Amino acid sequence: MRILNVVGARPNFMKIAPLMRVYRTYPQIDSLLVHTGQHYDEKMSHSFFRELDIPEPDVNLEVGSASHAVQTAEIMKAFEPVVLDYQPDVVLVVGDVNSTVACGLVAVKLGVRLVHIEAGLRSFDRSMPEEINRVVTDSISELLFCTEPSGVENLLREGVSEDRIHLVGHVMIDTLLHNLEKAKQSPVLEKLGQQGCVDGDDYAVLTLHRPSNVDDPNVFSRILDALEIIQNDMPILFPIHPRTRRNLKELDLHERLDQLPGLHLLEPLGYLDFLRLTSSAKVVLTDSGGLQEETTMLKVPCITLRENTERPVTVDMGTNQIVGTDSLKIVRAYKRAIGGHCLHSVIPPLWDGRAAERIVTILLERFERPECGISESALPNS
Ligand code: UD1
Repeated sequence: MRILNVVGARPNFMKIAPLMRVYRTYPQIDSLLVHTGQHYDEKMSHSFFRELDIPEPDVNLEVGSASHAVQTAEIMKAFEPVVLDYQPDVVLVVGDVNSTVACGLVAVKLGVRLVHIEAGLRSFDRSMPEEINRVVTDSISELLFCTEPSGVENLLREGVSEDRIHLVGHVMIDTLLHNLEKAKQSPVLEKLGQQGCVDGDDYAVLTLHRPSNVDDPNVFSRILDALEIIQNDMPILFPIHPRTRRNLKELDLHERLDQLPGLHLLEPLGYLDFLRLTSSAKVVLTDSGGLQEETTMLKVPCITLRENTERPVTVDMGTNQIVGTDSLKIVRAYKRAIGGHCLHSVIPPLWDGRAAERIVTILLERFERPECGISESALPNS
């Protein structure tokens, strides 16, 4: 069985790593890796391949950054010849980034079976680009692998037949569990201590990159109002996403940050350094999707700076508080978090480090006898 796996942006790399590892143990699987190049910087891409032992991509489409339409279209144009060339039995996509939906569309239009990992998540907020990517990808996928019960419920409600949906746990959690011990050896915290950013174990970690938070100066300023209060109480470590760094300059917010001595801007961190920081943090403030789940696994309180989440299990069972961007609400949530609000959180079902094994077992059961391939009518000159 030939599986063409797709990655494109930072949150995809930790999801593909355990699958690539499990494929190697099955001689009947011929797995290929395509990197779309949606993310391309050393710190946003290459370092993850090295640290997570992901094989060099067989193909890099090198599409780079652009508007949503252009980026999605460029990925589609570049991916189609790859599918025609490699003739896979299955295309496998992960997550909800533009690369996910773009490659998914190419696969199904060529008649190749599409498999979606992390299916069924819904924020019910269509102003989020990722929500559109999730809805479209799920609607064209033949097999849908879910990380949490809400994903299964959402897909059933949307009319997907039960035999195509599998609750398997979370490949991103497989990666976390596989690397946690190694991450604990990372010297990043000691280095930050020497630089005077932290003193001991009381610190918060902040990540911020959603367009809805960092493209609008009013929203960004409201978040900074809350951070100003929190950094008086506890240092905040802020590895900054390239989009956010650019916006700080463009929105003239840099000077404001300079007046917050407890808020420490860092370059984007590698996987192991970042896991070391988050696993020992007192609290994490974020607008990321994956980090809501990682903090639940690590039992670290998480404050989500968004109005909704597509990962409700992190609130119902885990350590997450959905707070939005009102500065008072953020500060109150911070007080609850450090006051022990999530002491009774539990780990969601099947988040045990074995999701990739379950996925590969199901793929083999369902698809091992290949009867697919590219449909004749989809070929360029048909
Ligand atoms: C993308 C995903 C988002 C994910 C995030 C993780 C979509 C729609 N969004 O958002 O779901 O949470 O990745 O980071 O797919 N840039 C660099 N170097 C890079 C990559 C990007 O400098 O290696 C800069 C560019 O200025 C680019 C901007 O970051 O324009 C945004 O990158 P893009 O991939 O368009 O979206 P993200 O905000 O990263």
